[in-house]
Amino acid sequence: MEWKFFYVTTPIYYVNDVPHIGHAYTTIAADILARFNRFMGHTVYFLTGTDEHGQKVLKAASDAGLSPKEHTDKLYQNFKNLWTKLDITNDAFIRTTDSGHIEIVQELLQRLYDKGEIVKRRYEGWYCTHDERFWTDKDVPQRNCPDCGRAVEKIEEENYFFLMSKYHEALVRHIKDNPGYIMPESRKNEVLGFLRSNALGDLCVSRPAQRLSWGVPMPFDTNYVTYVWFDALINYYSATRYLSGDKSDFWPASVHIVGKDILTTHAVFWSAMLMALDIPLPKRLFAHGWWTTEGRKMSKSLGNAVDPFEITQRYGADALRYFLFREVTFGLDGDFSEAALIGRINTDLANDLGNLVSRSFAMLNKYFNGKIPAANAVEEELKGIAEGILPKIDAELDALAFQKALDEIWTLVTYLNKYIDTNKPWVLAKSSETQERLATVIYSLIEGIRFVSLYLYPFMPKSMAMLYKHLTLEDVSKVRLSEVSRWGLIEIGMQIQGMEQLFPRIETEVKAAKPQAAVPSPKEERPMNAVDNVVDIVDIADFAKIKLKTAKVITAEAVKGSNKLIRLTVDSGEARQVVAGIGKHYTPEELVGKTVVIVANLKPAKLMGVESQGMVLAASDPDGLTLITVDREIPAGAQVK
Ligand code: ME8
Repeated sequence: MEWKFFYVTTPIYYVNDVPHIGHAYTTIAADILARFNRFMGHTVYFLTGTDEHGQKVLKAASDAGLSPKEHTDKLYQNFKNLWTKLDITNDAFIRTTDSGHIEIVQELLQRLYDKGEIVKRRYEGWYCTHDERFWTDKDVPQRNCPDCGRAVEKIEEENYFFLMSKYHEALVRHIKDNPGYIMPESRKNEVLGFLRSNALGDLCVSRPAQRLSWGVPMPFDTNYVTYVWFDALINYYSATRYLSGDKSDFWPASVHIVGKDILTTHAVFWSAMLMALDIPLPKRLFAHGWWTTEGRKMSKSLGNAVDPFEITQRYGADALRYFLFREVTFGLDGDFSEAALIGRINTDLANDLGNLVSRSFAMLNKYFNGKIPAANAVEEELKGIAEGILPKIDAELDALAFQKALDEIWTLVTYLNKYIDTNKPWVLAKSSETQERLATVIYSLIEGIRFVSLYLYPFMPKSMAMLYKHLTLEDVSKVRLSEVSRWGLIEIGMQIQGMEQLFPRIETEVKAAKPQAAVPSPKEERPMNAVDNVVDIVDIADFAKIKLKTAKVITAEAVKGSNKLIRLTVDSGEARQVVAGIGKHYTPEELVGKTVVIVANLKPAKLMGVESQGMVLAASDPDGLTLITVDREIPAGAQVK
């Protein structure tokens, strides 16, 4: 990224709305960029806020028996609270009712009026009171507002107009000459298409105060207030004048992040306004896609808006932050479901990442008493991957390709997991000749995890700051990537404590398969046939009663107080817990990731107080036990017949 100053904005949200997952989405995107840019040593200004003028606010306030200001003073807190909950690090929060903002809106209006860019005209049009906007005859053949569907009324009145039509050509040129101005590409083409097929009209920027009093008074005619969008768009600029302390050189913004619903107001109205004011245009407008729930638009009336407070309460802010950017390409639409969120938590966070950390810490603890050993060699391939990812993340985030940045980070997570499996530290631990190699492997693992925590920090700040601190005792928010993204910085000899599971698996309801028919109890078992040394013959119908399935081991830990029992959580098509008496033959670490075979419909039983929902199959001979596994990759939960 070449910016020295990085100024990122979100839309200012309608203060009346209850914040939902869509609002959280845009603001988290801005937060990831802000955190990453600070991390890169850039001077960052991150702005969000609330849009507080207009008819709807006035109406809601009067319904609540409050003045509009009292009403908005209460409501804007909903957004502030959500940003705290989601660990958002905005540098400023703008409210369009701030006197500093109002003064600048009036200053700019006056400037445009003095330049002859705003003129008064008699106007006749179809007005939607709810959306506070005019429509032309052509827009409303049924006399219903195309946005909200409510009836429109014919209004004839004098109003002030911004002569936007003058800027049609200049706007097209600007978009074409600056390919990164509107992103993604498809949205840029949409705007250009719109400008090709529509002559840009002039924009009505006033409303008579007698019809709508809750707005910024026009400085040159107090019988009018300013159109809400005109007032709202200026926030991006006004904040740099009165909310950024002495750092007023943040304008122009590096990127305005908006949803696709408000791209036109930004790409067309805002760009033309700035051109008329001779103020430089922002460097980039990025319009992201739309989140739906079960394929439907989220709305208060449908009662299907996903509450980010509730989701965060249940799964944590980091999991939500990760999910939103891992699941869907930024720019495209996505459908939100809790099942998909849980899926991501369990596979990516608990399984890939959480297990990597807990296995590595467990081995550090077991083989080196928790003290970082000195490596005897540099693992060049691993080092190359760890260090080489940074420029890639940088490039991806420059293009707001959050998902691709996460893909890059995941190559390191995947590599580290494979590194454990190929190096088998539990085997190295068995021989005194391989102790040096063991030290190198464990050192490299822990150092690799340090890189993971650095790179993931902008996405999952709480857990990754905790992990980084655990490894280095340093506050990750105070370090610069250029200084710490070098291999070999983890301190040899440092004592690392064990750590709670970073992302515990979410156990969706475990449906312990009910035994379909009683499996014979030991007492009923027939004795071994003395002659041919095989268990008495059963017919196929009896065998069919026993359900065998493949199961992938997700976590494994010794049952406290037992040297034999290991508690496994497995994925057998559903999550379940199985206790296996294999502790003398396997360590928990080497079990994770194995695909085993279980009896899935065994009646749950408690072993040393821990419930087992099935039985792991193993073969035994005088040398010990060996697990029954499969000899190629096969999905968890496959039937064994
Ligand atoms: O439009 N999916 O405010 P607003 C994704 N005040 N993003 C969503 C979303 C969804 N389902 N729903 C909302 C306004 N958003 C004006 C903006 S700016 C000068 C004035 C996000 O409260 C997305 O960023 O309706 C969208 O553009 C914004 O919230 C709209 O917020």
